[in-house]
Amino acid sequence: MDKIIVLDMGGQYCHLIARRIRDLGVFSEILPYDISLEKIMEIKPKGIILSGGPNSVYEEDCPKLSEEFYNYISDEKIPLLGICYGYHLIVHQLNGKIEAHDSKEYGQTDLNTPKGISFLESFKKVEKVWMSHGDLVKKLPEGFEMLAYTETSPFAAYRNEDKRMYGVQFHPEVVHTPKGNNVIDYFISKIAKAKKEWKLENWIEQSIEEIRKKVGTDGRVILGLSGGVDSSVTAVLLHKAIGDRLHSIFVNNGVLRKNEVFEVQDTFKNKLGFKNFHFVDAEKLFLERLSGIEDPEEKRRIIGHMFIEVFENKTIELEKTHTHIKFLAQGTIYPDRVESAATSKSSVKIKSHHNLTLPDNMTLEIIEPLKDLYKDEVRKIGLQLGLSKEIVRRHPFPGPGLAVRIIGVIDKEKLDILREADAILIDEIKKAGTYDDYWQAFCVFLPLKTVGIMGDFRTYENICAIRVVESLDAMTANFAKLDWDLLEKIGTRIINEVKGINRVVYDISNKPPSTIEYE
Ligand code: XMP
Repeated sequence: MDKIIVLDMGGQYCHLIARRIRDLGVFSEILPYDISLEKIMEIKPKGIILSGGPNSVYEEDCPKLSEEFYNYISDEKIPLLGICYGYHLIVHQLNGKIEAHDSKEYGQTDLNTPKGISFLESFKKVEKVWMSHGDLVKKLPEGFEMLAYTETSPFAAYRNEDKRMYGVQFHPEVVHTPKGNNVIDYFISKIAKAKKEWKLENWIEQSIEEIRKKVGTDGRVILGLSGGVDSSVTAVLLHKAIGDRLHSIFVNNGVLRKNEVFEVQDTFKNKLGFKNFHFVDAEKLFLERLSGIEDPEEKRRIIGHMFIEVFENKTIELEKTHTHIKFLAQGTIYPDRVESAATSKSSVKIKSHHNLTLPDNMTLEIIEPLKDLYKDEVRKIGLQLGLSKEIVRRHPFPGPGLAVRIIGVIDKEKLDILREADAILIDEIKKAGTYDDYWQAFCVFLPLKTVGIMGDFRTYENICAIRVVESLDAMTANFAKLDWDLLEKIGTRIINEVKGINRVVYDISNKPPSTIEYE
């Protein structure tokens, strides 16, 4: 399959570039800018894109490309597209001139494209583009042709057909550059001539085949199933490939949402017919170990370690009755692997149970079938494999679960209160038909007692905070502007129906500076 490589120069939009390329039907992979040339040669890319980045090409330790790299792409005639920092870097390394500008050119800008040729073919004489840079190109290297300019940038796009090098000062990958997709499409299809062969249907077949080949005819695979999107899709994919030689282990860690323990079992055991579905109810054990713990990182650590302990014990038990347990599957997805885009501080750690301390004679090989996929691709695959929309569209839920949604010390009573409140919120949002519009919607238990009045009685109870956010990747998030009537309904129901809460507040903080979760 034809591939386009995106070399990561540290830019926050790097992921978007790869996304756009995949959406256009070509497989794309992000690699660090200093990846070995051997690795690039192995991939044989049809084209290479250099992303933007925060550095200036004059800084001492800024990302650079080696002479061998330039020689290789020149010998192989692999086209290169530089974006923002990548755009400056090409100029700088080929002896053009870059200068720092007094002020940053930031935001939407008018781009003048006198010729409207090459990758700017679809651009009118003036088009809106998104800029975010401090440095400016003052002189192009020899043989480079200027294709566009802005009021600030005399050279805002260039090409060198002989060298097959192209560049844009602006960001074609962001939505604020309305015709940006045309630039990327032109580069991948007309310049790099990559075939559009990246289709999820083919991916499923291919992946099943690969799993079968790897696991063999008698190998067994164990999988920690949380009921979240990634592990659920991994489970159905593996089940399709190797049937009941998949052993899924589902642990009740005591900090799951209302009905989750029942629903996950019902889905996999009853609806999907998983025979080797193993449920471990470790609620008591987890809550005992978490008792009295206030520090969120300590809560995370305990839950992570406990999970591994419980998981290992179950695996060792299974090993006594089943031979050939040789593999450990994980629902790692692409952003988990690319550190710059990791969606959270600890989701990466939680997923990296690679070093399970299982007995020596039981070393397990890791299988990560979703490792090249983005979340929305995982969702599409889940649907194609027959998972319900409810599971596939589920909001992300942190590994340490409700433990990080109760401020301070947790106990069963607080957890039950939070579960009830949270279920009401989700119920109302689903009834309003807006659940899919949000990245996450959840309740947080604030153990702050305030006064209220219920009938003739004075109450002195806790506060429930409602957090509903919109986001694309959890790196940034905005609080959702919920309808007032809906908010009122949710608040009233929670106060009326949940004993232990007499006040509900709505969180209006964005990320940054706040985070999505409270702990
Ligand atoms: P924050 O709170 O950092 O969250 O804005 C960003 C995203 O990460 C999730 N999150 C976690 N996921 N283990 C997880 O598996 C964790 O410890 C954890 N903490 C935060 C959070 O739900 C949001 O989607």
